[in-house]
Amino acid sequence: MRKHLSSLLTLCFLVLVSHTPTNNATGRSLIDGIFLPSQKNEQPYRTGFHFQPPSNWMNDPNGPMLYKGVYHFFYQYNPEGATFGTIVWGHAVSHDLVNWVHLDPAIYPTDEADINSCWSGSATILPGNIPAMLYTGSDSKSRQVQDLAWPKNLSDPFLREWVKHPGNPIITPPAGVKDDCFRDPSTAWVGSDGVWRIVVGGDRDNNGMAFLYQSTDFLNWTRYEQPLAGGAASTGTWECPDFFPVSLNSTNGVDTSSYSGSVKHVMKAGFEGHDWYTIGTYTPDRENFLPQNGISLSGSTLDLRYDYGNFYASKSFFDDSKNRRVLWAWVPEKDSQDDDIEKGWAGLQTFPRALWIDRSGKQLIQWPVEEIESLHENEVKLQNKKLTSGSVVEIQGITASQADFTISFKLEDLKEAEVLDTSSADPQVLCTERGASSKGAFGPFGVLAMASKDLKEQTAIFFRVFQSQSGRYYVLMCSDLSRSTVRSTIDTTSFGGFVDIDPQYNEISLRNLIDHSIIESFGAGGKTCITSRIYPEFVNYEEAHLFAFNNGSQSVKISQMSAWSMKSAEFVVDQTAKSAM
Ligand code: FRU
Repeated sequence: MRKHLSSLLTLCFLVLVSHTPTNNATGRSLIDGIFLPSQKNEQPYRTGFHFQPPSNWMNDPNGPMLYKGVYHFFYQYNPEGATFGTIVWGHAVSHDLVNWVHLDPAIYPTDEADINSCWSGSATILPGNIPAMLYTGSDSKSRQVQDLAWPKNLSDPFLREWVKHPGNPIITPPAGVKDDCFRDPSTAWVGSDGVWRIVVGGDRDNNGMAFLYQSTDFLNWTRYEQPLAGGAASTGTWECPDFFPVSLNSTNGVDTSSYSGSVKHVMKAGFEGHDWYTIGTYTPDRENFLPQNGISLSGSTLDLRYDYGNFYASKSFFDDSKNRRVLWAWVPEKDSQDDDIEKGWAGLQTFPRALWIDRSGKQLIQWPVEEIESLHENEVKLQNKKLTSGSVVEIQGITASQADFTISFKLEDLKEAEVLDTSSADPQVLCTERGASSKGAFGPFGVLAMASKDLKEQTAIFFRVFQSQSGRYYVLMCSDLSRSTVRSTIDTTSFGGFVDIDPQYNEISLRNLIDHSIIESFGAGGKTCITSRIYPEFVNYEEAHLFAFNNGSQSVKISQMSAWSMKSAEFVVDQTAKSAM
């Protein structure tokens, strides 16, 4: 299969290279230039290594899976333009989760049961290695119904063609659930009783929940009376629920159907614009999911978030080739619809993240998959550098607009930290009220990314350390977007989350994946994540700069820093793809 894909890549390369310019500096052909002639000046916000289709609208990740050594990634896609519309399933394949070949859309409206759109869904690999795709159809009456599709030809590793079950829809909205509040089937898991289970998102009277369905043949599904989670808070419809086990004694992922004493289960749902999760204990024979904090996944009382920034409708899958669970999420635009129409595209995906439970058992950890290292070049290192109050130090030697770098800070004499009333502290409010230019004691310190030389435009990702009355320390992680652009059509809301580490005994690390209009930030090894979208104006006439800074009254030390320029990933269009993408 590997050979197959690389020969396809080679073929695409040969076909495309004759039409594309060559980068003289590297001698490497700009294969992705085929989609965007001279995009460098005209399209400064397109990314180098984050997944995006060549043009048009994209939202949720759908049905990620590994089939016969090929990763498949599907996504909500409007082939007609850069705004949301009649949605089809875009489709791309890869060997390494880094370089991608775009194929023709896989699933598109054809039937009564999905004629108005093919909305989000998930893949399940059935016994015999048969992928089954469950997805939401918006039917001819715009009802949200659940449909089933499978590949036409299992010997095609790219699974280009999909057929729909003639009996679609297989699930319709339950009594008392509004037709437009019932969607996004999860990957199925099978119990020792041989019964398949899925959750479908929805709500009753605005109380969001994950409806549970069971089936013995994958075609006929019966609703279990109790939802698996939710139902207690006015969250609105739960979107894209994900339910999976995490191993308690390893960072490896486990198959969605794994069930034993050494796993906990994660329930995740999207609502109020964020992806929320809780960790708990699942007992399949009673269909009971008990969140470990004792409450159900319920609105804003739940404080666990995958990411505190622009991040939504995530989906995970178990990658058995590397025993890991991999997470993707949609990263929406923060510019205006008119801006999107003008640039001809909207929406990114996060770089795929491995996901596991923290040693504390209290939260999940996310970290870019290791394959990202294949894009690293020109490493720059720094050690033991003191940042006194007010310092701004440029990190030179890397391409600051396309970089992966980790910086660790060491703090001493923490008793000087400001006192915070933590009982009412909302991290996002704190980050908004005290941006990167508001001086504290320990912090703000961190980085200024995608910055113009004169620092007029800059995106700050930084920390502040507080202590409570009782002497416990709190680390706040923020992204301050208030100066990320001078353009007026951009939403520059700041983000924040607390980081669960004790700075008395631990350095505070920050990894950033910077890629033109996106910065994915991972605090303390992936305990707290913030994804930002940014649209600096200066990139039209000037290169980006990267700085470390300390704006607190106390000095901090950069104990370590490793930074790499990132090569661009290869995104090519399969030459047999018929539709213009
Ligand atoms: C989440 C979502 C899903 C739906 C899809 C439609 O962003 O609203 O609930 O299936 O997008 O594209």
